[in-house]
Amino acid sequence: MRRLFVAGNWKMNTLAKSGVALASGLAAELPASHPGVQVAVCPPFPYLSAVGQAVAGSGVELGAQNASQEKPGAFTGEIGVDMLVDVGCQWVILGHSERRAIYGETDELISKKTAAALAGGLSVMLCVGESRTEREGGQTEIVLDRQMAGSLSGIDAEGMKRVVIAYEPVWAIGTGLTATTEQAECAHRHLRNWLSTRYNSPLAEATRILYGGSVKPQNARSLMEQPNVDGALVGGASLKLEDFLPIVRAAQSLRPV
Ligand code: PGA
Repeated sequence: MRRLFVAGNWKMNTLAKSGVALASGLAAELPASHPGVQVAVCPPFPYLSAVGQAVAGSGVELGAQNASQEKPGAFTGEIGVDMLVDVGCQWVILGHSERRAIYGETDELISKKTAAALAGGLSVMLCVGESRTEREGGQTEIVLDRQMAGSLSGIDAEGMKRVVIAYEPVWAIGTGLTATTEQAECAHRHLRNWLSTRYNSPLAEATRILYGGSVKPQNARSLMEQPNVDGALVGGASLKLEDFLPIVRAAQSLRPV
């Protein structure tokens, strides 16, 4: 059975004090790694060190929200993979729809970032998902296939051991509109079949596929109960301990020790 994974994507939120307080609160509630549920938080770059210290030795891992594909050099404003490893990150979110839509990140760029992150020792949460227009136009599976093929081009089966997929329908992100459990399960099943065709069936069975898009304490359990939903990438609800913790607890209730 796949280990569930609940990750908080803080996006461009918190300041040092509030971020550390949130992380410390979470670490106090999750003092040790849980065999059935992995947990991570992804704060903004300036707070990675401080948040990393706050969660050190607890059951909470650390991730960044983006990384450069380049090696150290003249890339003003960019953050390299080695730097993220250096401040204690195990994870990086890549291909988030906000990066794709607002900053023009293409599948080709995301595949370079994915390769660089894996080569540098990070694990990757790779986000894919269709827009509302694409879903209404019956294009969901075509879009997912294109994003998966493009973002994972050049990533071999060995690299995939450190990749988690996050299915995040764009129309559900930050909108309060959550995919129904059927919509989520259907997309996740499709993604798993894609992995099986592109790689192989054991790899597809082992790869975790998270759901993201308005996950809250009220809907987390029913989503994660779906056979192909292996956890959640949580945005807004990861910013308050009283929202994020019940989502983690819901996951733990599905994987009792
Ligand atoms: P949301 O964001 O939970 O606020 O919808 C999820 C995400 O973008 O990762």
